[in-house]
Amino acid sequence: MSACTLCLLNFKGGVGKTTLSVNFAAALANTQGKNGQNYKVLLIDADAQANSSVFMLGEYWKRNIFPNPERSLYGIMDRIRQGNIKKIDEEDIIGEFENGTRSPVFSAEKKVLADGTSTYIESETYWPNLHIIPAHYGLINVERDIRYGEDGLVSIKAFSSPVQYFELLDRVSSFIKEYYDFIIIDCPPNLYTMSENILYFCDNIVIPVIPDWLSTNGINWLIMQVKAFSAKYGNRKKEIRGIAPTLWNVRELVFSRHIRILSRSIEIWKKSENYSDLLGRCEIWTGLQRFASVNKSIESLRPVIDYQASEPARVQVEMMTNKIQSWLEE
Ligand SMILES: Nc1ncnc2c1ncn2[C@@H]1O[C@H](COP(=O)(O)OP(=O)(O)O)[C@@H](O)[C@H]1O
Ligand SMILES: [Mg+2]
Repeated sequence: MSACTLCLLNFKGGVGKTTLSVNFAAALANTQGKNGQNYKVLLIDADAQANSSVFMLGEYWKRNIFPNPERSLYGIMDRIRQGNIKKIDEEDIIGEFENGTRSPVFSAEKKVLADGTSTYIESETYWPNLHIIPAHYGLINVERDIRYGEDGLVSIKAFSSPVQYFELLDRVSSFIKEYYDFIIIDCPPNLYTMSENILYFCDNIVIPVIPDWLSTNGINWLIMQVKAFSAKYGNRKKEIRGIAPTLWNVRELVFSRHIRILSRSIEIWKKSENYSDLLGRCEIWTGLQRFASVNKSIESLRPVIDYQASEPARVQVEMMTNKIQSWLEE
């Protein structure tokens, strides 16, 4: 069976894409599938800021990926462009495969000491079935390096005929789509070449959004862009499955008002014949409210489910991952 693919998309930054990506990946990897084994999950960090990678790999990213950009998604995109890779393989991925070495994912835990300094300790948690393709700051160069003309075609010597610039990642994904149950992608805050490669690759989209005036402002335009891209891509069905309000709190009426506005606007979109495919199954999720425990979990390099996070934070992450998990049954 092919992996369930999900990207966290918004061209606005600071809306919780990274927080949700990493926490969804960890929560799904901590969940048992029908065969009695935990789901195999791959997180792809496609944002040059590399926040997900540093969150999941900590010191390992600083010591091993930062000095070696070829070990990141940037390296993979560069090798595709140069015709030096036909498929993403075990050696392109950070994580444990059968009889492999111990996975470094979440292997360090950051402890902040009383004097404000911090130290890393070895974590006792073991995540053999959670893997990552990390990002590197160099990923920004993908936008400059992948050149295409008006027809969008790129000639690459690994492929027998020219391919569209947005198909490149998907073209090399046979192994990962077969091996994993879930592939989660943390998108960059733009809709350029890397994002289009992700949109082409993924079937499911979740849009994190802060429910306030400025942040909800661009959502209609974002939906129109995704629709335009999927029309351009042809027959691959894309669905925006959820809008996840983030960084809000129940005490401020301004947030619930904007959640209602979002809700109404999605109901209107759904009724439009043009958008029923893209938004037919879209729901406004509970999302993840602003909790200090989420900030602390990030600083400790632990996912919410593995940290002394407040119960509501954990419940909210689990409510969303239960929905994602149910897509496997469709
Ligand atoms: N639910 C939350 N509660 C508290 N802080 C959060 C929460 N979600 C995200 N943050 C913080 O908000 C900032 C932006 O979140 P992030 O996930 O990095 O957004 P993005 O990836 O969209 O840029 C980060 O500093 C993160 O630590
Ligand atoms: Mg981010």
